[in-house]
Amino acid sequence: MAALTCQEKQPKSRPAVARNATCRSPSISQTCPLAIGPLTLADLDSVIALEAASFPSPWSRATYHSELTRNHRSRYLKVTPATASGAAALPALIAQAGVMLFGAEMHIVTIAVLPTWRGRSIGEWLLLALLAVGRNQGAETATLEVRVSNAVAQRLYHKLNFTQVGYRRRYYPDREDALVLALTDLNAGRVWQPLRERFERLSAAMQRGVDMPG
Ligand SMILES: CC(C)(COP(=O)(O)OP(=O)(O)OC[C@H]1O[C@@H](n2cnc3c(N)ncnc32)[C@H](O)[C@@H]1OP(=O)(O)O)[C@@H](O)C(=O)NCCC(=O)NCCS
Repeated sequence: MAALTCQEKQPKSRPAVARNATCRSPSISQTCPLAIGPLTLADLDSVIALEAASFPSPWSRATYHSELTRNHRSRYLKVTPATASGAAALPALIAQAGVMLFGAEMHIVTIAVLPTWRGRSIGEWLLLALLAVGRNQGAETATLEVRVSNAVAQRLYHKLNFTQVGYRRRYYPDREDALVLALTDLNAGRVWQPLRERFERLSAAMQRGVDMPG
C-alpha cells in the first residue's frame, strides 16, 4: 500500500499528566486513566472521526478496513480510557497509530491524537509503544515521512531521537515536501534503554490518569 504515509497537523497546549485518577465523567472528576491496546474493526467509526479531526486528507474507512484485515505487515495501536465506568462523556478512542513491518525496518504510517487531548504526552507514549511492538518483531530501524510544515510532529520525533535521513520533494498529494526521518540501532541498549525507561514512566503516569479536556 504505497500511498500510506505519515500524515500531518498543528499546535497543542502543554502536557498535563495527572497524579491521581478516577475515570468518571468530566463533571465528577478531572482525570482519566488511559490504556493502550490493539486497534480493531470495532474502532473504525472512531478512527474515521479521529482522522477527519487530524488530517486534511484522511484515510478512508476502506483503507483502514484493509489495513486491519489484509495487511499482514501492519500493526495498529489505540489509546482509550482505561475504564468505561460512568464514561458517557469520554471518547471511545483518544489516539491511534500504525506501523508496517519489513523485517529489520519498521515504517510508521500514521499517528494521531484527538485535538482536545493533545499536549498530554499521549502521542509520545503511543509512539514509544509502537516502537516497542516493532522492536519485538525484530525491527532495528524505524522510519517515517513528515510534512516539512508539521513542526509539532517533527519535535515529537526529534525528542525520541529520530534524525533526518532524506527529503522527498512534492511527496504529498498537495505537493508538499516530506522529510524522511529514521531512528536506528533500536537493538542497542544505549538507544533503547532510555526510550524504554521513558515508556515505563509514561505508562505509570497514564495509568494514574491524565487531565481531561475542560
Ligand atoms: C503529532 C501529535 C500526534 C502529537 O501528539 P501529542 O499527544 O499532542 O504530543 P505529546 O503531548 O506527546 O508531545 C510530545 C512532544 O511532541 C512535541 N510537541 C507536541 N505538541 C507540541 C506543540 N504544540 N508545540 C511544539 N512541540 C510539540 C514536543 O516535543 C513534546 O514534548 P514536550 O511536551 O516534552 O515538549 C498530535 O499533535 C497530532 O495528532 N497531530 C495531528 C496528526 C499528525 O500530525 N500526526 C503526525 C503525522 S507525521
